Amino acid sequence: MTNTITTQGALRILLLGASGTTGRAVARAGIAAGHAMVCPVRCGTDVAALPQGPTYTETDFADAHWLASVQDRCGACDIVISCVASRSGAPKDAEAVDYGINSAALVYARQAGVKQFILLSAICVQKPRLAFQRAKLTFEADLIASGLAYSIVRPTAYFKSLSGQVDRLRAGKPYLLFGDGRLTACKPISDDDLAAYILGCIDTPERMQAILPIGGPGPALTPRDMGAYLFRALGRPPRYRRVPPALFRGMAAVLGVLELAFPPLRTKAEFLRIAHYYATESMLVWDPATETYDAEAAPETGSDTLFAHYDRLIASGASDARPGHAMF
Ligand SMILES: NC(=O)c1ccc[n+]([C@@H]2O[C@H](COP(=O)([O-])OP(=O)(O)OC[C@H]3O[C@@H](n4cnc5c(N)ncnc54)[C@H](OP(=O)(O)O)[C@@H]3O)[C@@H](O)[C@H]2O)c1
Repeated sequence: MTNTITTQGALRILLLGASGTTGRAVARAGIAAGHAMVCPVRCGTDVAALPQGPTYTETDFADAHWLASVQDRCGACDIVISCVASRSGAPKDAEAVDYGINSAALVYARQAGVKQFILLSAICVQKPRLAFQRAKLTFEADLIASGLAYSIVRPTAYFKSLSGQVDRLRAGKPYLLFGDGRLTACKPISDDDLAAYILGCIDTPERMQAILPIGGPGPALTPRDMGAYLFRALGRPPRYRRVPPALFRGMAAVLGVLELAFPPLRTKAEFLRIAHYYATESMLVWDPATETYDAEAAPETGSDTLFAHYDRLIASGASDARPGHAMF
């Protein structure tokens, strides 16, 4: 296997998760770069609402032969980019999507002689405590062991995950903080900057056979920084409500015991563990030697800032609140 791909002209890229936030941005960027984008999407997806240019193909992901069908319909591809991910983080869904769909794509990539597999993962897998993190890590290990050329992109936090409170503040409600609002920090990255970084992995030797933590432009921001900026931008006096993160841990612990007797409670307990995780863990590079998060060590890309995004939301009156959306 070689780490160098000679890419003359346009590539054919199989893009998984093209209907998601990052997938849409990658689809747009791929088309703008002149590539042919082949995008399997779930049956019933409103493809008219997705970026124009890619070939979307409705796919039954429960069918063991779904990738062979995609190849029959759309032809072989040079590169796989996977932005597919469980939308809930529920253990069964993460196993089926973050591990299962990606594993099928890996089998296809090896059989079809794909030149590079680019995986969108998440920086939080460096301290795995949750089912979806373990599913992602297990697949990362399979990809690394596969012998394929790979790039594993682990971004910090997306703008959408940090914009849900704009509507609360507009409605005159206080900004919700965990602890004093300085328990965690991240370097937010925009969809388009992340998409450019992902496409930039193609044929870039220093981004191949590599795990790539990546954030947007610094400095690292705490929730307190974000709240303070939003109040200033809205011209309102700051008003905060503190939520103790231990609340989630306590409720998860209770459900964790009950789930032994009532297995359906497992998913609810996991959601509380997810909430506690994001209330208390930074999305920065973890230094196991000092057992601290290191903002300086988190690489940066792009130029769009979270505060510029907030300014755009406030100026346009638009909402970035997405039901059911979480950090993962
Ligand atoms: N949010 C953050 O701040 C953050 C930070 C760092 C890393 N990440 C990571 O970034 C990755 C992508 O996040 P995102 O926000 O772009 O994802 P997203 O918007 O939730 O999109 C997920 C994609 O996966 C597809 N998908 C989900 N379940 C499926 C299933 N059962 N069968 C087929 N397709 C399925 C979705 O299709 P449908 O449209 O049909 O549902 C969609 O295309 C995740 O791995 C996440 O952990 C997120």
